[in-house]
This record gives sequence, C-alpha cells and structure tokens, in this order.
Amino acid sequence: MVAITGASSGIGEATARELAARGAAVVLGARREDRLERLAADLRAAGGRVAHRPTDVTRREDLTALVDLAVGEFGRLDVLVGNAGISTISPVADLDVEGWSQMIDVNVRGVLHGIAAALPVFRAQRRGHLVTTVSTAGLKISPTMAVYAGTKNAVRTILEGLRQESTEGWLRTTSISPGYVRTELAASITDPALRTRIEQNTASLALDPAAVARAIAFAIEQPQDVEIGDITIRPSAQD
Ligand SMILES: NC(=O)c1ccc[n+]([C@@H]2O[C@H](COP(=O)([O-])OP(=O)(O)OC[C@H]3O[C@@H](n4cnc5c(N)ncnc54)[C@H](OP(=O)(O)O)[C@@H]3O)[C@@H](O)[C@H]2O)c1
Repeated sequence: MVAITGASSGIGEATARELAARGAAVVLGARREDRLERLAADLRAAGGRVAHRPTDVTRREDLTALVDLAVGEFGRLDVLVGNAGISTISPVADLDVEGWSQMIDVNVRGVLHGIAAALPVFRAQRRGHLVTTVSTAGLKISPTMAVYAGTKNAVRTILEGLRQESTEGWLRTTSISPGYVRTELAASITDPALRTRIEQNTASLALDPAAVARAIAFAIEQPQDVEIGDITIRPSAQD
C-alpha cells in the first residue's frame, strides 16, 4: 500500500502507474483533483486498487488526511512517496523571495508534513518506508538552482538524520535523485528565458518519468532488511 504526493503528473503519476501495474494499492494526493480522478479511473480500469484525495502538501492536515485515507481504505500504509515539488528557480541576486518561500513550503515543509503524518503509523505497524524525490541539482550545484538545490539537500539531510535515529529495523528511507526528467516541472519557472532554456534541455535529453518510477519500485521491492538509501538516476548524456 503506497501513498504518493504529487501524483497528478510527471514522476508521481508514473510511479502510481508503475506500482499499480506491479500489484500495489495506491493512494494519490495532489491539488489538481481532476487529474487524480482521471488517473484513478485509468488504474481501476486496469484492475488496480486506488483511492485519491485533493492534497496540498503545505497543509499538515492534508497529509494527515491522505495517510488516514490509506489506512481507512487499505488497512495499512507501507510506503509514503513524498514526491510533490516545485522549481521556481532564478539567480539568487534576483531576490525572488516569494519563489524561495514557495519552494521551502512545498519541497521541505511538504516532505516534513508527510513524515509527521506517516511516522506514527509506521511506528505502530513496526514497518514503513519513506521515499522522497530530491534531485541531482543538489549534487552538482548550477547557477539559478541554488535555493532549489538547497531545499532538495535539506530533505536529503533530514532523511539521513531520520535514518540515523531509526536503526531498529522497521523504518527504511530512500532519497531518489533524478537528473532531467520529461515532466511539467518547468511550468513553475517564472523567468521566460530561463524557462525556455530548461524546457529545451528537457526536450533534448530528459528521461521518461517511467525510468524514475522503476527506480522507486526497485527501492520499495527490496526485502525489509535491505535499505536503498540513495539512487541517482540521470540521462546518460547529462553533464
Ligand atoms: N523533472 C525533473 O527534471 C526533476 C528532476 C529532479 C527532481 N525532480 C523532482 O521530482 C518531483 C516531481 O516533479 P516532476 O518533475 O514530476 O514535475 P511535475 O510534473 O510538475 O509534478 C509535480 C507534482 O507536484 C505536485 N505539487 C506541486 N505543488 C504541490 C502542493 N503544494 N501540494 C501537493 N502537490 C503539489 C503537482 O501536483 P498539483 O499541481 O496537482 O498539486 C504535481 O503532481 C519534484 O519534487 C521535483 O523537484 C524533478
């Protein structure tokens, strides 16, 4: 039973499709309910077990409700994929304080809200797995990506800290670091020239989101005593 935030498009949607095809029940969260409804209908038509609810990860109560939905519908929560994210990137000198705040709220606070909702369930079950989508932007720091990379590395650090605190064997944590992936992520970039450049890079070399979904499935499907801590997955042609 896997709950996924940011399931309405891109990597989250592909992950829902991949995991459902492999037989997992999935619970879908994102703000665009129409998208979730269409995806849920697709998955059900293929025999999948699925539930969904509108979810804004910046609201703690929405994550609590998403986890409650998973437990209510399917009796447990095995994995939370904290995947929702935005990339309102720009040079730091542009002082896009609003964009920085949005990234901190969604990319960092949103993941923390997921941890706060899922951890008590995992502890009670003595079993659980937190997967988050961070980024190669946090591994090779590029101009315009400083704050975005900072949010992703904050999450990487939080998960590693939680891992160090959780060595009794019932909690697993995984950070997935994708490079360029063909999704709607560039839509949140407000600077038109920068957005065009990122869209061109995406068009020329990006991975299909299904590739990242397969990496997430690989981490999840390991036996409980095997924790895949980090996966970096980028196009072979990315520098
Ligand atoms: N694409 C890449 O090249 C790339 C590379 C590395 C890492 N990533 C990371 O991968 C993750 C998924 O992004 P993507 O590339 O698949 O882009 P995407 O297609 O834009 O998907 C982003 C998802 O996040 C959701 N989201 C955004 N704000 C939200 C909020 N406040 N509450 C709930 N959901 C929210 C969106 O749904 P709604 O708008 O419906 O809420 C959407 O489902 C992100 O964390 C991103 O940083 C992407």
